[in-house]
Amino acid sequence: MSQFKITVLPGDGIGVEVTREAVGCLETVAKTFGHEFTFESHLMGGAALDAKGVPLPDETLAACLASDGVLLGAVGGPQYDNNPPKLKPETGLLALRAGLGVFANLRPAFLHEPLIDASPLKAEVVRGTDMLIVRELMGGAYFGQPREVTEDRGLNSMVYTAPEVERIARVAFEAARLRRKKLHSIDKANVLEVSQLWRKVVNRVAQDYPDVQLEHGYVDSCAMALVTRPTAYDVIVTENLFGDILSDEAAVLTGSLGMLPSASIGGKVGLYEPVHGSAPDIAGKGIANPLGAIASAALLLRYTCKLEEEAKTLENAISEILTEGYGTPDLKSQPKQVSTFEIGEAIRSKIVKAKAA
Ligand code: NAD
Ligand code: IPM
Ligand code: MN
Repeated sequence: MSQFKITVLPGDGIGVEVTREAVGCLETVAKTFGHEFTFESHLMGGAALDAKGVPLPDETLAACLASDGVLLGAVGGPQYDNNPPKLKPETGLLALRAGLGVFANLRPAFLHEPLIDASPLKAEVVRGTDMLIVRELMGGAYFGQPREVTEDRGLNSMVYTAPEVERIARVAFEAARLRRKKLHSIDKANVLEVSQLWRKVVNRVAQDYPDVQLEHGYVDSCAMALVTRPTAYDVIVTENLFGDILSDEAAVLTGSLGMLPSASIGGKVGLYEPVHGSAPDIAGKGIANPLGAIASAALLLRYTCKLEEEAKTLENAISEILTEGYGTPDLKSQPKQVSTFEIGEAIRSKIVKAKAA
């Protein structure tokens, strides 16, 4: 029996709805496989702003640091959009990532065969899409100084140091080694100095990985290639802002933004969250796709708990319910349209059956 203490940060909007299902799935995994997981929920994002006046209360960060892993829903909402930077839910999320020291954000985009008609691309173009985006998460324009906004001028700084590039490059090369051994490093080195450093450092690290085939590409051309030949990609490594943009694009190729999970690692405690946001347009309706959040829980089992069999069981359960035709309304091609909760229930019953088999 393994024991794990998991901090849950539901956040805002559909974050609350999808996290509930992900926690439910982890509870079923624990019960079925004989582990003890304890869950403690804390305020984060807009919910924390409303209750405590800050987007990341000290006690929330302290609880995360005192736990084995953190499961987050999503933060944000239109009511906070005009807040000053310090009082934005998103600022709390950046502070959480920095506070945990999670510099490597793994975003696997895998197209489940039953969702081929839910993808906006033609079946023959998208079939076989299976890539991992390794997004740098603690640098670039998100954190670079100086930064400010005045009445008539806004300023951000895209900054990377060689050690920051080196550590994310190593994560990507290691990941490529465990996959199809192809790595695309995506930058804008034809224009940006910061990308010129990025490319130089990635080339240097590549010497330690002669078994991995490295290609450099520009971010504009990568955005195009993702929709023309997505199967050309195995692992993509890129900086923070490019990774944010490319991963939403990659996500929707797999049927819906709601499908994509993520694991943020490399720090003191792993942070697991779906790639999507709080989706104010569908919040409270019980129709959000919880599969990205549930797949993030599987990544928690894999990376934090080192429970590979349990992680695989949960991932297989996702595949099985998709094959049986279940889906939320964002997955239009699925014949059995159900609610967020019903997806969670279907997966939980698969976990129990898989273990009994
Ligand atoms: P979003 O990801 O919330 O939504 C984009 C579109 O995708 C919407 O139409 C939404 O309904 C749909 N969608 C997203 N997730 C879905 C799911 N699980 N199931 C079904 N449909 C889903 O992006 P947005 O609208 O640009 O942002 C809304 C808020 O969320 C903003 O405040 C933004 O800053 C925040 N945000 C937070 C995170 C995070 O917490 N990690 C990530 C992205 C955006
Ligand atoms: C994501 C989100 C966040 C980001 C925002 C909400 C700060 O878009 O996790 O992809 O830009 O990193
Ligand atoms: Mn994003």
